[in-house]
Amino acid sequence: MRVNQLKVVVTGGGSGMGRHFVERLLQDGASVSAWDMNLAALKSLQAQYGDERLHIVEVDVSDEERVKKAMKSAWERFKGINGLVNNAGIFRDSLLVKKDSQSGEVKTMSLSQWQTVLNVDLTGPFLCIRELSELLVRDGGDEPAVIINISSISRAGNIGQGNYSAAKAALVADTVTWAKELARYKVRVAAISPGFVETPILEGMRPEMIGKMVKQVPLRRLGQPEEIYTGLRFIVECDYFTGRSLDIDGGLRL
Ligand SMILES: NC(=O)c1ccc[n+]([C@@H]2O[C@H](COP(=O)([O-])OP(=O)(O)OC[C@H]3O[C@@H](n4cnc5c(N)ncnc54)[C@H](O)[C@@H]3O)[C@@H](O)[C@H]2O)c1
Repeated sequence: MRVNQLKVVVTGGGSGMGRHFVERLLQDGASVSAWDMNLAALKSLQAQYGDERLHIVEVDVSDEERVKKAMKSAWERFKGINGLVNNAGIFRDSLLVKKDSQSGEVKTMSLSQWQTVLNVDLTGPFLCIRELSELLVRDGGDEPAVIINISSISRAGNIGQGNYSAAKAALVADTVTWAKELARYKVRVAAISPGFVETPILEGMRPEMIGKMVKQVPLRRLGQPEEIYTGLRFIVECDYFTGRSLDIDGGLRL
């Protein structure tokens, strides 16, 4: 499939990597339905790119009814959708249990920290894939489609990210499941597992933490959203690629 043939939903399209994907996909000729909870961010995209090939939807990907409506409206707007990038994601880091060395106070990861991350990072992609797959199988007319799940290198387990690691690992497990289930309908499902990428998600971190992270990367730098987009474009264009995660991480997991 060529990128300029794509009619693609990008979740979390308002900021960071998702916004970069939306902009680059538009530049490469695709039609894009950008979804985000942040309407102001979506409107700024629209102000820049107009609405000829850009459709925006304010939606929380963990809300079943809103996802159903959003997918229907994207499908109607472009007379079909043949691509989905499940990119919206959050983290709420916490150790499972931590004892303060001075006060002796013991804190734990709250159930809401656990569930919020699972809802957005795992249930969100499930809902988006399910809604698109139903439309493709019922009304898609046997045309090929591609789904790309943005996981993370943290899927291998990472201190302070029990919730996030669980969601991102499960997302890759189900990338395999759904690739197997949907292949008969000509739908490919793949994942990208980025390492540390320079986006606003890192802005909440102290510079010394980022410095420590970079030291662990064999290439000794953060990744750039464009380098993740290069992987995304490869997955779109390589019609024999399905069921796998592309790790783009500067060698972090070597
Ligand atoms: N930046 C990194 O280092 C890195 C590394 C590995 C994986 N990732 C993954 O890449 C994806 C994008 O990360 P980013 O760094 O660009 O983050 P970001 O915070 O810059 O952007 C995330 C976007 O998702 C939107 N969003 C959040 N919750 C949402 C919801 N419930 N419904 C709809 N939209 C929602 C936000 O409003 C925001 O626009 C995430 O899935 C993240 O886990 C990021």
